[in-house]
Amino acid sequence: MSKGIAPVEHPIHALLAERHSPYAFDPNREVSEADLKSLFEAARWAMSSYNAQPWRYIVGVKGRSQATWDRLYQVLVEGNQPWAVNAPVLALGIIEKNFEHNGKPNKAAAHDLGAASALLTVEATARGLVVHQMIGIEPEAAHAEFGLNEAQEALTGLAIGYEGSAEVIPEQYAERDLGERQRKSLADIILDGGL
Ligand SMILES: Cc1cc2nc3c(=O)[nH]c(=O)nc-3n(C[C@H](O)[C@H](O)[C@H](O)COP(=O)(O)O)c2cc1C
Repeated sequence: MSKGIAPVEHPIHALLAERHSPYAFDPNREVSEADLKSLFEAARWAMSSYNAQPWRYIVGVKGRSQATWDRLYQVLVEGNQPWAVNAPVLALGIIEKNFEHNGKPNKAAAHDLGAASALLTVEATARGLVVHQMIGIEPEAAHAEFGLNEAQEALTGLAIGYEGSAEVIPEQYAERDLGERQRKSLADIILDGGL
């Protein structure tokens, strides 16, 4: 089951058109340690403001680091739990809010975590994996659960695995997986100037 390839108006790389965030994960298919290492290696090589690399991750893998997976699952909001329960890998995206070199606030920290997670997602697509990011986490609970310091902020959850079939999730999520993919037009996002 898949929302399918993005109906692009201008050609883009197949990896970008294929990438999507499904709700249905295959509960019976593990992600190899080698693939997971490559996903986070891709994140590691993301560009960042001042090359500060403000992204941090906590990763839990069913069966391999089950206790961490359980703790990550507990800090997802209720609305994300019914489908994320099938993901063999859960991760938490965290930002370092201040620069290491001078302690001043890094205004690009959230932006750069997003960039790192985006590259992770493209690497995942290339490996036949899917990633569904979540702003729907309980940030305070995550902060306490994982003993984050005051310069760190838990921002996003990531569900990682192989896409599954509609039967593994409640109908309301399955319907979303089958919905049409929608985007604003180029004219909506390029406010001025020209191509
Ligand atoms: C930072 C971020 C947070 C998101 N949070 C959630 C979430 O909490 N729950 C959810 O169901 N989807 C979440 N999504 C998925 C988006 O809804 C999805 O990316 C969007 O609808 C576009 O669909 P696509 O990724 O399949 O192209 C999130 C995506 C991103 C990038």
